[in-house]
Amino acid sequence: MLKTLLEEHGQEHLLRFYEELPEEEKREFERQIGAVDWQILDLMRHPEDLSGRGRIAPTPFLTVSEIRRDRERYLEAGREAIRLGKVAAVLLAGGQGTRLGSDAPKGAFDLGVTRPLYIFELLIRNLLDVVRDCGVYVPLLIMTSEKNDIATREFFARHGNFGYPQEYLRFFRQDMAPSVSFEGKLFLEEKGRLALSPNGNGGWYASLLRADILKDFPAVEWFNVFSVDNVLQRIADPVFVGATILSGRNCGAKGVRKAYPGEKVGVLCLEDGLPSVIEYYEMSAENRDLVGADGEPVYSFGVTLNYLFRAEKLKEISGRRIPVHVVRKKIPYLNGAGERVVPERENGYKFETLILDMVRLMESCLPFEIVREREFAPVKNRTGADSVETARELLIYNGVEL
Ligand code: UTP
Repeated sequence: MLKTLLEEHGQEHLLRFYEELPEEEKREFERQIGAVDWQILDLMRHPEDLSGRGRIAPTPFLTVSEIRRDRERYLEAGREAIRLGKVAAVLLAGGQGTRLGSDAPKGAFDLGVTRPLYIFELLIRNLLDVVRDCGVYVPLLIMTSEKNDIATREFFARHGNFGYPQEYLRFFRQDMAPSVSFEGKLFLEEKGRLALSPNGNGGWYASLLRADILKDFPAVEWFNVFSVDNVLQRIADPVFVGATILSGRNCGAKGVRKAYPGEKVGVLCLEDGLPSVIEYYEMSAENRDLVGADGEPVYSFGVTLNYLFRAEKLKEISGRRIPVHVVRKKIPYLNGAGERVVPERENGYKFETLILDMVRLMESCLPFEIVREREFAPVKNRTGADSVETARELLIYNGVEL
């Protein structure tokens, strides 16, 4: 059976060491192979499916001053939804944080100076502000990957979940995607193990459904999905929740005005009339540098990976495939002699889906501007832009003791 399946897909080489494996490892290996998404490999043969964007136009957004003007109205609507259990927070913590150069879960990174102050701790504190304000706990669903699931759960347990009650906390694992050589052959990581990597943050909803934890929170109508690395972000922010609900749209995106035209953030635009996030490397130089009569960049709304998604619409689109991005990477593998090779150059592809591609599928989106120095302090690198250093400065600026 296994042999026939692999032959069908031209992957018989994976069985090279199969007979050497103890029975238990054979079963585990079979399980891994059974879970491979073979359709993904077709992408390599038809890469043109991914390229080509529609007609791009700038999108208006709800500005900070407009939000201030209507704040009370938004706040009231948002609080009401939160109190009724309609909002869940989804923390995307399945990434590998390679730029930070640590194997530990990114949220376990310590930003403290005179005492420990972990990224996870800061995020939980931000959410607890809302809990206090609304008088109810917000379900917090944390996505991990196979690579960091145990370490993340243990970290939370060791720190008493930073005061968040277990009853409102769930972990779920994202799916893994195979890595392949440029010839389309899957790599082995060990004799009985495929080389797999987290399938990108666009798989969060499918993985959440598979984990079957939503039955514990039946009132949820909105998911506030956010990244692990912005330590200043407001989570389940009632003003954002209220503004999105009252707008009648299917999603909301928190964003900042680009600091300068070339800033490396995805930009929310209209693509053939639908909201769509264009990554900075996909934007033409002409559009990137376009300046309006007011002297501001025309394509200026940079997303911060803090979205609100309507559950009903997510359900509706869950059967649709979201675009798969193919990324060239250095992938360690086991060669024909059973030796582990760590390549010096890119030797294959990884596949991932991105949450920003979901915005287009939602069909309507409220771009909601935030005050950058109050809500945007991403920790991507150790030093330089969007780093541990800049995040520490911004935390201090916002009155957090390090
Ligand atoms: P990034 O795009 O910054 O990727 O993730 P990363 O893997 O964390 O970091 P680098 O690029 O290797 O340094 C943005 C958010 O999406 C989550 C991350 O944990 C982060 O919150 N993410 C990313 C996942 O949950 N799963 C993934 O497969 C990828």
